Amino acid sequence: MNLIHLNYKIDKAKYTKIFYDIHQRGKWYQWKQFDAKLSWWKVYLENDSDIRHLTKEVEQDLGIWGMETYPRFAYLFSNNNVPPHVDEDDMTCIQINLFDINPIIVIEDKEIPYECLLLENGKLQHWVDPVPYDRLMLKFCMRYPWEEVLSKIPKHLIESYEV
Ligand SMILES: [Fe+2]
Repeated sequence: MNLIHLNYKIDKAKYTKIFYDIHQRGKWYQWKQFDAKLSWWKVYLENDSDIRHLTKEVEQDLGIWGMETYPRFAYLFSNNNVPPHVDEDDMTCIQINLFDINPIIVIEDKEIPYECLLLENGKLQHWVDPVPYDRLMLKFCMRYPWEEVLSKIPKHLIESYEV
């Protein structure tokens, strides 16, 4: 499946601090397909905002700077889930764990613990089960075909393919 672990070591202390510094600019978020619930707090770094540059280094490292990446910090509070779904459009995303504990995403019935994951979330069904701790990730969502996004990722960051 189009799911790759990236060998990218983000500076967790730095980006967690950035999240806490700007967290008040976020909002409760729930995808329109799901019932409204106070489970996700998301801070979007809009293109025309004064905070957009904060993830530039990461995007440069990942080779995706210059694409429309819709960067956001996503904080999922403990004991909340994300129901099974396939995202919209021709979507591929990169999600990076910012806390110590490996988060687990379930993709096509397979539990995947990860640190930095590239996945075709517009094609693969996925969900998140509740756990008794909070999770924080930095996420980039790209409405481009899988092959196009993959071609941008530096080869040395490709760690392993999930099958
Ligand atoms: Fe999703």
